[in-house]
Amino acid sequence: RATTAQSSAADLRNVVTGEKLDLSDVLPEGKDTPGVKQFLSTGHNPYITDASCLKKGEQTFLAACSGCHGHVGEGKIGPGLADNYWTYPQNTTDVGLFSTVFGGANGQMGPHNESLTLDEMLQVTAWVRHLYTGPVGDAEWLNDEQKKTYTPYKLGETFPDNPPGLCAKSGK
Ligand code: HEM
Ligand code: CA
Repeated sequence: RATTAQSSAADLRNVVTGEKLDLSDVLPEGKDTPGVKQFLSTGHNPYITDASCLKKGEQTFLAACSGCHGHVGEGKIGPGLADNYWTYPQNTTDVGLFSTVFGGANGQMGPHNESLTLDEMLQVTAWVRHLYTGPVGDAEWLNDEQKKTYTPYKLGETFPDNPPGLCAKSGK
């Protein structure tokens, strides 16, 4: 990462109130997968660099997010998620984006801790990153190496159902 100072344990807070999110208030399944453990100890979403989770992330996005944010995050009744403008600047970090999904924001953006597992939240936020079409220089969640090779989603792109990788161990 370019900013190693951020590589500490995840400090998950509601993006609106700043209140600490209650990590015990989650669905029983998918809460201690290797991916979740890695995220909680490093603050980095491992699925962003592990393409094995993109398929599941896409499916969750289409089921739980696209109705409000558009099929490719272009924005609808909820704001666009594929550009470089963020109402809550925390969303440029893995911890911030995850926290928005977990704890919600204002209005119709409700919390997802009772409808998605922690692992699914990591999968779906990795997919949101994959939908990003803004300038790569503003993709603060990517390190310099990742910025060099970043290629956003292309319409019609498909992924295998069960590719090898971290996501095979996500349990759901
Ligand atoms: C805001 C992601 C589901 C409606 C946001 C933001 C993110 C996000 C990252 C903040 C954007 C920013 O800072 O600019 C997601 C994801 C979802 C999801 C990944 C699925 C897991 C939904 C659903 C609705 C919705 C189902 C509608 C019922 C909104 C609205 C806002 C918002 C209205 C603006 C809230 C505010 O500004 O405080 N969403 N969202 N979202 N979302 Fe969602
Ligand atoms: Ca936006």
